[in-house]
Amino acid sequence: EEIKIFCPATIANVSCGFDVLGLALDSVGDEMIVRKTTEKGIRITKIIGQDLPLETEKNVSGVAGLALLAKSDYEGGFEIEIDKRIKPGSGIGSSAASSAGAVWAMNELLGKPFSNLELVQFAMQGEKLASDVAHADNVAPAIYGGFTLVRSYDPLDIISLPTPAELYATVIHPQIEVKTSDSRKILKTTISLEKGIQQWGNLGGLIAGLFQSDYDLIGRSLHDHIVEPIRSILIPAFDDIKANALKAGALGSGISGSGPSIFALSKGEENAKKVAQSMKETYQPIGIDFDIHISKIN
Ligand code: HSE
Repeated sequence: EEIKIFCPATIANVSCGFDVLGLALDSVGDEMIVRKTTEKGIRITKIIGQDLPLETEKNVSGVAGLALLAKSDYEGGFEIEIDKRIKPGSGIGSSAASSAGAVWAMNELLGKPFSNLELVQFAMQGEKLASDVAHADNVAPAIYGGFTLVRSYDPLDIISLPTPAELYATVIHPQIEVKTSDSRKILKTTISLEKGIQQWGNLGGLIAGLFQSDYDLIGRSLHDHIVEPIRSILIPAFDDIKANALKAGALGSGISGSGPSIFALSKGEENAKKVAQSMKETYQPIGIDFDIHISKIN
């Protein structure tokens, strides 16, 4: 018995929600086949597209799967094949797609004994392996779909948020790799009250905008006063990409997850395409290679 699934890429943080907010992309992701085996444990039999470890303990899908097996009374095991299309270190939740995909597929094959919240907990073990921190802001939207909020880590509390009907994401990935563990090390561990006030005002505003389908409010709220000023120095021409995306009509723009990908949200596909064009025209003349995607958010 086997299942073939799509594992979505995700945008974490979404500017104002560091480690708590994320969204799933509908048209960017990996494919994974998960198969039940009589042999116990987890075997990763094939990975195409990227050079990643096959050893269960060194692979995020293996580690997430082991966390699920440890809580299950299932006697057998699983085999995993991954068609890895999301580049590791690109900032759109490559490790989360594999961690979340593995446990989601296993749960389906077992007849859904686990809740989505439990699946997130298992998948977080994969994130811990990948980035040293068991953050849930990529795995939660990968499992729940759409926008999610990690209201609390202890106890884990995840809220699914509504997505306005015409919301699109444009994501550009300059072809460099930034490890999440590295881009976390450069962050300060404290913030000022002043910055806190700005940030939670925006986070509340963004969430209200999603509930009210208020695109202007979403746009007004897409700011990050804490992490972006520090991390953006790792990203080629970040300020120009963002400024040109806004000029082309984006509601807002920022770093996707820990970067180097940059995202912009737009109302409607036409605007998302114009934003994509502006991003291309920013990178092409300065000779930066990139991938670019447009995705509806559901
Ligand atoms: N919230 C995490 C970070 C996401 O920004 O480090 C990593 O994809």
